[in-house]
Amino acid sequence: MKILVVGGGGREHAIIKKLAQSDKAEKIYCTPGNGGIAAYAECFDVGATDIDGVVALAKKLAVDLVVVAPDDPLVLGMTDALQAEGFMTFGPKKAAAVIEGSKVFSKELMKKYNIPTAKYEVFTSSEEAIKYVKEQNTYPAVIKADGLALGKGVILAQNEEEAVEAIKSMIDGRQFGDSSSTIVIEEYLTGPEVSVLSFTDGKTVVPMLSSMDHKRALDNDEGLNTGGMGTVAPNPYYTDDVAGECMEKIFLPTINAMNKEGRTFEGCLYFGLMITPKGPKVIEYNCRFGDPETQVVLPMLQTDLVDIMVAIYEHRLSEIDVEWAMGSCACVIMASGGYPLSYPKGLEISGLDSKGQIDGCEVYHAGTKLADGKYLTNGGRVLGVTAKAITLKGALDKAYAGVEKISFENAHYRKDIGQRALKAAENADPLHLGYKDDMEDYIEENGVYLRQ
Ligand code: AMP
Ligand code: GLY
Repeated sequence: MKILVVGGGGREHAIIKKLAQSDKAEKIYCTPGNGGIAAYAECFDVGATDIDGVVALAKKLAVDLVVVAPDDPLVLGMTDALQAEGFMTFGPKKAAAVIEGSKVFSKELMKKYNIPTAKYEVFTSSEEAIKYVKEQNTYPAVIKADGLALGKGVILAQNEEEAVEAIKSMIDGRQFGDSSSTIVIEEYLTGPEVSVLSFTDGKTVVPMLSSMDHKRALDNDEGLNTGGMGTVAPNPYYTDDVAGECMEKIFLPTINAMNKEGRTFEGCLYFGLMITPKGPKVIEYNCRFGDPETQVVLPMLQTDLVDIMVAIYEHRLSEIDVEWAMGSCACVIMASGGYPLSYPKGLEISGLDSKGQIDGCEVYHAGTKLADGKYLTNGGRVLGVTAKAITLKGALDKAYAGVEKISFENAHYRKDIGQRALKAAENADPLHLGYKDDMEDYIEENGVYLRQ
């Protein structure tokens, strides 16, 4: 099969590397891709939200499958446009992508179908919103733009002043354009967060290995919110009991709710969960693979990803046995100094080999470009240095050893990725986390130990 992947970050790099392991993948293309992806897939300069451009490219290349990875083209209807031209696709149609595209839609869906989430109210008038937060008088107040806002549309206001400012800049100042003309104000929840990506064809839902993101820019969860500064998988807070409760109260009800609404979801549905003292609740849905969750989840996948994607398109996911390797995976993001605010581009990256890799790790390129044989920084998040090991500690040690080998001016990375998970793991079921006494020998002999 000839496969075109739409997007150009670390997530797409991880998807492409996994697709490339399939003997069904004859040729992989990517648009727009990046410097590191170019070593694995032929890249084109059609933008990820250029629907007509991507359809034309898919036709020119005569591809058999198009994987639409980022949220914005999905919300804009790229899948619908590709299917209208007869292409096999991976990624939900516009009607289903709204589960991420509109917070109001997702909150109303959860309320209507009794799916556990934070209590909320919707506002289009700043006066009414301000009156409401003043009446509630409980902080932090959680204020969310309705639409897509590059992961920056959630404000946790610590006091009345911050809440009023956030409401005014979103609704009146159109901080995120039309995305913030409607806002949601919701109850503040507490507890560890878990990301669960899932494969679904609308009939079957198969949760992937759980993971934990680290969204704040600085150590100890300080600093600004980012797209994600690092991830580990599996997530020790996602025990088998929690997983069972999520399947019963969240995953299946969501798939069924989308069917009932005539918005069958086909693709990767991402459940952003919080394990609150009252049980797991949905913080957000995403209509796509997470970034950088994908970088730690897909390396653990043992089943052919092309087979899974084709089965989803043909609504026969139930026929596929999706298998995961035992062990852990960790990803440390190296970002440009200044990210998530302004940062320079074009700085030379040293330490990478000609394919943009280093020994002992997988390096997923998020924002790089290749010029005259040199890798240069070209985005806020630059690289995701990723490693697998039998234990979480082993994976983290390998990933951080990898980070030490790579440098560029003012590179910034968190030093504490996985620390919270490591502490939690001390109390968790070792099998769930992937460790078993005889595993090292088994893996030595057989290459991989499958998760039961
Ligand atoms: P989101 O962009 O929806 O993932 O939100 C960004 C982050 O804000 C989440 O990862 C949570 O840490 C936090 N957050 C969102 N909603 C809530 C909530 N209702 N209570 C507490 N924290 C929240
Ligand atoms: N890492 C969070 C996301 O992909 O939305």
